[in-house]
Amino acid sequence: MTLIPARLLNGVSTLAIVCTQWGDTGKGKFVDFFAEWADIIARGTGGANAGHTIVIGGKTYVFHLVPSGILHDSAGKINVIGNGVAFDPRILIEELAILTQEGMSFNNLSIAHNARLVMPQHILMDRLRESSRDGSRIGTTGRGIGPAYVDHYARVGLTVNDMLNVDSLRRKLERNLAEKRKLLAHLDPLLIQQIMGHPHLGSGAFYHPSKFLDDDALIEQYRVYGQTLRLLIKDTDQMLRDAIGKKRVLLEGAQGILLSIDYGTYPFVTASDCSVQGLARGAGIRERHVDRTFGIVKAFYMTRVGEGPFPTEIGGDESARWCNDPLTTKDIEAKLFPNASVNSDDPFVQGIGIRRAGYEYGATTRRPRRTGWLDLPLLRYSLRYSGHDAILTKLDVLDQCEMIRICTSYRYDGPRYHIGEQQLDPGTTLRVAIPHTEVMRYCIPRYQIFSGWCRNTSDIKTFGELPTQLRELILFVAREAELNIVLLSVGPDREQIIAMETN
Ligand code: IMP
Repeated sequence: MTLIPARLLNGVSTLAIVCTQWGDTGKGKFVDFFAEWADIIARGTGGANAGHTIVIGGKTYVFHLVPSGILHDSAGKINVIGNGVAFDPRILIEELAILTQEGMSFNNLSIAHNARLVMPQHILMDRLRESSRDGSRIGTTGRGIGPAYVDHYARVGLTVNDMLNVDSLRRKLERNLAEKRKLLAHLDPLLIQQIMGHPHLGSGAFYHPSKFLDDDALIEQYRVYGQTLRLLIKDTDQMLRDAIGKKRVLLEGAQGILLSIDYGTYPFVTASDCSVQGLARGAGIRERHVDRTFGIVKAFYMTRVGEGPFPTEIGGDESARWCNDPLTTKDIEAKLFPNASVNSDDPFVQGIGIRRAGYEYGATTRRPRRTGWLDLPLLRYSLRYSGHDAILTKLDVLDQCEMIRICTSYRYDGPRYHIGEQQLDPGTTLRVAIPHTEVMRYCIPRYQIFSGWCRNTSDIKTFGELPTQLRELILFVAREAELNIVLLSVGPDREQIIAMETN
């Protein structure tokens, strides 16, 4: 079993793990790896839009809300769902039922009493917005995340604690729904009814023909959820603050910096701040309390789920359309492109080959993830918000790839555009990405091409044993993006981690 190199955590009391891309970079594996070291493992952002696969007793489960460290619960570690999380009690209760069924305990799980509550009206609003044909689709996961945060900032949100107090639950809910009903009255009632029939919305249990949402049914259900979870609901902000400097705290990021509401490729982002700053805040502590951050970088390809610019996408618009088509599934793709390989001449098919080699299908949505080459301008940008300590993951996915492209800069090819005092003209070179959609969509990647190593790396244990081409590529990326690479991952298992000798 790979041990955590002691030098990585010298003097560290609080460690954060965040993704530097658009999520799905293999963060869960490293949260699990460092959970062994930690006393407390806390989430501070996102919600059931995230998904991690956990294997229990040979069975594979996809969990959305329980922190990845829950499997270490029996070792007395505390798992925290922090105040910044968009919390859907229905989903957590389902996940806890699975853990119970598998004979696992979750006594050490704590839920922030002030976490934002996700309710059926949020899922309804999310799905209504996504069903519009006016080009405003984000390609969300449909879990109500955006609308729950919107309510928080609009000061009409509910919190986890409201489930414990029926009177205030009713008062706040009435206020919350009053605004929504005004909006809903202008929308297609049949569509509303249809969405309300979705299993994530209680299969119609909360639908009311004239009011759209049935207050009484919602209150009763959330009261019951509150009773079920009562013993887990705590002041986790205080718990975390008390632990700073005394206990080992691991902050588990969700999604990735390029999906951050504050720093990501807006508006094609999620609704929480996935940077270290957002993560610390959502866990109830300050960023300066974080002693070390490891940014996860999937290499040497990237993925994105949903809409939004992706300059290095393999297969370009054709790939984006295919992956974003609700009818595209993993099975259909396998049937139509049985021979897609990482070396296909047709870029669209090559993208499918890489997706298949990397199992790049959404854990939450099952959607195929769009695939592209590693984009250094975007990475250089993300590192501003994660720092330069990095873990490279999924290196083995391109083991059989004969030629690898790395995007080292962009050529801006759009109309004149001003960013503050900076002026972009056609032909401008960008070494660091500017995440404005108006810029990104005109960025043409400039690639450096490398020959692949065409050898299986998944059993390799040391950097020195890796094929020369791969070592050179790792050092090239480290140099180009000023990365301090500490660990490499060459497969999904815990054993498939290589520690860099000097960092
Ligand atoms: P939302 O978070 O469901 O509102 O979705 C907003 C955007 O973030 C969409 O493009 C989603 O595909 C993306 N997104 C949300 N969660 C994840 C994730 O865990 N992995 C990858 N993309 C995500």
